[in-house]
Amino acid sequence: RKILFASSEVHPLIKTGGLADVSASLPIALHEHGQDVRIIMPAYRQCLQQLDTVETVATIKLDGYHLPVDILQATLPDSDVVLWLLHSPHHFDRDGGPYSHPDGHDWEDNAARFALFSRAAAQVALNHVGLDWQPDVLHCNDWQTGLAPALLSTHKNRPDIVFTIHNLAYQGLFSFDEFQSLDLPKALWHMNGLEFYGMMSFMKAGLIFADHITTVSPTYAKEICGHEFGYGLEGLLALRADQGRLSGVLNGIDTHVWDPAHDSLLNKNYSLKTVRHKALNKTALQQQFFLDESKDSLLVGLISRLVSQKGIDLAITAMTQIIEAGHDVQFICLGSGEHSYEQELRILRARFPDKVAITIGYDEALSHHIEAGSDVFLMPSRFEPCGLNQMYSLRYGTLPVVRHTGGLADTVVDATDENRKAGVANGFCFNDATVESLHTTLLRVVALFQRPRLWRSMINVAMQHDFSWENSANTYIELYHQIKNR
Ligand code: ADP
Ligand code: GLC
Repeated sequence: RKILFASSEVHPLIKTGGLADVSASLPIALHEHGQDVRIIMPAYRQCLQQLDTVETVATIKLDGYHLPVDILQATLPDSDVVLWLLHSPHHFDRDGGPYSHPDGHDWEDNAARFALFSRAAAQVALNHVGLDWQPDVLHCNDWQTGLAPALLSTHKNRPDIVFTIHNLAYQGLFSFDEFQSLDLPKALWHMNGLEFYGMMSFMKAGLIFADHITTVSPTYAKEICGHEFGYGLEGLLALRADQGRLSGVLNGIDTHVWDPAHDSLLNKNYSLKTVRHKALNKTALQQQFFLDESKDSLLVGLISRLVSQKGIDLAITAMTQIIEAGHDVQFICLGSGEHSYEQELRILRARFPDKVAITIGYDEALSHHIEAGSDVFLMPSRFEPCGLNQMYSLRYGTLPVVRHTGGLADTVVDATDENRKAGVANGFCFNDATVESLHTTLLRVVALFQRPRLWRSMINVAMQHDFSWENSANTYIELYHQIKNR
């Protein structure tokens, strides 16, 4: 099949979270499975700085913007996947993140920026820009691409459309005034269009007009059909599920980038057979961050956007209690986000400098060191559409401690006696998003860590699991063939 894959972030060119990892690793996997997949994304300044060769392959006029824009072509680094970049310097050539100003505020013109991106994706999908390539499927991702399905809805010769929800909490909500300023077809302002309680919703546009909706784990696919996780879209999503037009496909991971046996960022590589070398990575981390160099201390790692979704408050309070109680535990945390969390983490570090290490910021190499060097990886998320870090952790023999929700529930099997005896336990789960629940679980972790043979057998289970794209790429390919069109 010919697939146009539209995404607002693609690793390693630009990344705020897991969407970027998936927007590289899934197209690469599809390409390896013989699909003709091409990625379209905005030409942010950071992307152009990283790409050596880019060629202008089309110049087009898009509705709603007075200047012509270019489509640039390059290849996704370390792959053969064709990349098209929407080059509109006024919208994308600036310092800062893909959605926000360097000071953290959302860009004021985000509606215009991603409306333009969606318009470009739609035009390329219709083969209207002179690229001489007609996709069978347009695969959109998250709200930034949501207007593309809406704009295509009136075109008879449009491709089939898949829309993937990576996180329903970010919906691209804008005012009616913004809607008018974008010069979109008036008919789209409708309850069965992109109107959502008086606002314009890019996410809803995608959900209404796509032929098939996927999300990134089976459990999250169920959760978003209910009140707690549906954010007012649960009715629409439940209807789509009844129609057989909503499914959950678990993300895979890039098993070349995340491979403890060959990861060049590690101090010492290891595999299941040589897992004793994992300890050298732990020592290196302890040295680097001036923690006590003790093999017996349980080293707890956390790498995350520091936002409420991730349960950072639960992690900070529960870890404080565990350390205060004198358990032999160390905590290493890498992340950035809300200033209050950053501040609380700094305070924790100041209180327990030989037990706590904090790095505020984004650091790819350190994230690999933490995955390899920690004994357990903490992810107490309030909700988690899929989550990638628990899968990276499992692959690195670092047992995840997670809340039982979304993709975490689909990948981590709790160390109950029963699960351990059955040889399926690979981590630790808790149900309630409360400090008590996490605290109780951390005590279980501490206790089990004293039993090296049991611990080792869980590492065996964790490291043997296949989290590659093999299964899920095939599921997407089947879906591309079977979409119930219109
Ligand atoms: P989300 O997309 O909701 O943030 P995921 O678990 O899907 O959650 O993906 C997060 C990705 O971002 C992972 O690849 C993780 O390693 C990475 N990441 C998050 N914060 C940082 C950071 N501060 N430094 C390095 N990598 C980070
Ligand atoms: C979102 C979700 C995360 C998921 C990622 C990739 O950022 O928050 O759970 O893993 O998308 O699909």
